[in-house]
Amino acid sequence: MEIREELLRRTAETERIIYAYLPAEEGYQRTIMEAMNYSVKAGGKRLRPMLMLETYRLFGGKSKVIEPFMAAIEMIHTYSLVHDDLPAMDNDEYRRGKKTTHAVYGEALGILAGDALLNYAYETAALAFEMETDPAGVGRALAVLARKAGIYGMVGGQTVDVQSEGTSDMTREKLDFIYRLKTGALIEASMVIGAILAGATRNEQKVMEETAAAVGLAFQIQDDILDITSTQEVLGKPVGSDERNHKNTYVTFEGMEQAKRDVEEISNRALERLDSLVVKNEFLTELIRYLICRDR
Ligand code: IPE
Ligand code: IPE
Ligand code: MG
Ligand code: MG
Ligand code: MG
Repeated sequence: MEIREELLRRTAETERIIYAYLPAEEGYQRTIMEAMNYSVKAGGKRLRPMLMLETYRLFGGKSKVIEPFMAAIEMIHTYSLVHDDLPAMDNDEYRRGKKTTHAVYGEALGILAGDALLNYAYETAALAFEMETDPAGVGRALAVLARKAGIYGMVGGQTVDVQSEGTSDMTREKLDFIYRLKTGALIEASMVIGAILAGATRNEQKVMEETAAAVGLAFQIQDDILDITSTQEVLGKPVGSDERNHKNTYVTFEGMEQAKRDVEEISNRALERLDSLVVKNEFLTELIRYLICRDR
């Protein structure tokens, strides 16, 4: 399998699904829909919905019920980026190769576009109730989505992240907590929801949650590395953002060489966990392996 070509094909497939669920730009409030669609359509790797779909396929899922959840997770992820870029947070002007949402629409609309994407994500995911004969599964998937996005997930991690800026009391335990929540949680949600909707057992869901936690940790460490080693042209967002914000990152804590080794080791741990399952999905395995050396 030529992973880069395959990835292009799958990204396009994922994007088609997400776009179908974006709101029409109409009514007196149309600017909010424009700002939402601008943020989502700016691009991005679509990693979370892709991981969700491939996990769904891994466990034999075949229906369209996964689609509103794919759109929902990308909306929540995009909202987290829109707010992460606000002046009060990381204060970044570029995202996904374009001006950030607040830079184009103003700060008030930036805040509202994030709020709107978060709320619309749940409206969208709830459409799955009309497509599925197993409403209990959809309900459980919704509960996972809500929890992993919230105070015990992404929002909780972002909170400790911003409160730790410029402090000198960072510990390895606290750093792991931040990464597990701010980045790991939405990746865990993606893979666990794919498993739930495909009818995977509790134990299989647990394996996917552990796999995703390792993928998420490696992913954020690589993000920290790229913030130092990459360029804005390749990355689509400013480099040096962490240093400018006096962030304690995995790289400042462990050093660049150790960080690089850990991305590989933690990713291999994810692959081992995945390989402990009887079911296989070659693309999913290749995708996780590819992320170790991703350059954006
Ligand atoms: C950026 O996520 C924020 C992190 C959790 C590191 P991505 O690197 O997945 O951003 P997009 O979706 O490709 O723009
Ligand atoms: C943000 O981490 C993770 C989110 C939940 C948005 P970063 O602040 O490092 O993400 P980037 O580098 O701006 O994408
Ligand atoms: Mg941030
Ligand atoms: Mg940021
Ligand atoms: Mg970053």
